[in-house]
Amino acid sequence: MSTEAKILANLTAVLGTQWGDEGKGKLIDILAQKFDIIARATGGANAGHTIYIPDPNNPEKPQKFVFHLVPAGMLTEGKICVVGNGVVMHLPTFFEELQILEDANIKTEGRIFVSDRVHLLFKYHKEIDGLQETAKSNNKIGTTKRGIGPCYTDKIRRIGIRLQDLMDFETFEKKYRENVEMLQKEYGKFDYDIEKELSYYKKILDKVKPMVVDSAYYLNNALDNGKTVLVEGANGTLLDIDHGTYPFVTSSNASAGGIITGIGVGPRRLGSVIGIMKAYTTRVGGGPFPTELLDELGEKIRTIGGEFGATTGRPRRCGWFDAVVGKYSVMINTLTSINLTKLDVLTGLPFLKIATAYKYKGEKLNSFPSSLEILENIEIEYIEMPGWTEDLSKVRKFEDLPANAQAYVKKIEELIGCRANFIGVGIERGDMIFRD
Ligand code: GDP
Ligand code: IMO
Ligand code: MG
Repeated sequence: MSTEAKILANLTAVLGTQWGDEGKGKLIDILAQKFDIIARATGGANAGHTIYIPDPNNPEKPQKFVFHLVPAGMLTEGKICVVGNGVVMHLPTFFEELQILEDANIKTEGRIFVSDRVHLLFKYHKEIDGLQETAKSNNKIGTTKRGIGPCYTDKIRRIGIRLQDLMDFETFEKKYRENVEMLQKEYGKFDYDIEKELSYYKKILDKVKPMVVDSAYYLNNALDNGKTVLVEGANGTLLDIDHGTYPFVTSSNASAGGIITGIGVGPRRLGSVIGIMKAYTTRVGGGPFPTELLDELGEKIRTIGGEFGATTGRPRRCGWFDAVVGKYSVMINTLTSINLTKLDVLTGLPFLKIATAYKYKGEKLNSFPSSLEILENIEIEYIEMPGWTEDLSKVRKFEDLPANAQAYVKKIEELIGCRANFIGVGIERGDMIFRD
């Protein structure tokens, strides 16, 4: 990887820099061929990573895959995939995803390993997720209802059940029953079929056993032996439990810090961090969104960009590109480069706006504010740039982009302080401009 060394390193991470759904899956799928192992580090089935690949049976229409728990590297033949310790694992969803791949003639056996330290996410976590959201009259987070918060809560309060526990079914059953009993005391006696769930886990035990590994040892050992690892980030930096728009966030560290703890490597191992950044902004669920467009323009971007959740199908809120968010993400993640995605979606807009600064009570803010109260009352400074009308989907070289599109990308790079080495111009694998 000599000439690519600055952009790709032996351990490279790809992560979301806004509020998720930036297009991480597509770059993971493109880069997977250059790496030996593709690993997930954080989050759970709240993630929905969409990939379109050529369909051997239908050259007209690409095949669509949506990954929630299985790393998207599975689409590339021969690659090994690892689910790292930082993930919350709903095994039924995981096996359903593997079945979808098998049904599409993609062999998964012997190619996927799961950390013995992943926390198991049960149906009761989803129930509690729903109960917690219902209990909030205002200010609902708008979670994906995949049980993410309640599972990470159990992890942090040290009652979580890990995959390793399942390896000894008697101990697992005891912990599981104790947890359901305790959680039913805390959340009210929600309707629950304990025996059905237990019998599922008993049934899949032999299927999961060969996949269980000490993933930190496995990955460090692989790196020591010259193998290369690509980490597939989930969610987005502004959804990070520490650095995002708390409390309207997910329950894990979706930024670069989570990559380190989520696979069990030291920070010095991470040679490259690629941030996925949409050429505009979207957000699903509640919470602040400074550059949101609540008018027809927002609707237009949603329609052209197909901005509907890959996990829940909910319409995504849409708005202008926010360089304050972009710059903040470059800082929090020490990004090496970015992949600016969905530039093609902006084709045809007469003008484009970019938020360049936030002001509060007349003073310019240095960085992204922690206070929601401040965020709700900021004044946003915008610059306006001319749009373009040319179709971008066939463009493969930066120099072939319309001058106004080139200027838009360059302006973003200047404002956020990071190079766009990859520019997305369509949904398919080949629809990407590579620079340098
Ligand atoms: P992820 O969660 O970050 O992987 O992103 P999602 O899959 O949730 O949402 C991104 C959507 O944008 C998917 O439907 C992708 O197929 C699509 N997409 C990714 N890159 C591009 C691009 O450059 N142009 C267009 N038009 N669509 C893209
Ligand atoms: P990918 O990996 C977009 C959002 C939810 C909600 C908040 C908390 O596809 O980019 P949670 O279920 O995690 O407790 O929900 O976080 N959220 C995402 N939004 N893309 C995601 O993942 C998301 N993962 C969580 O919509 O606002
Ligand atoms: Mg998504």
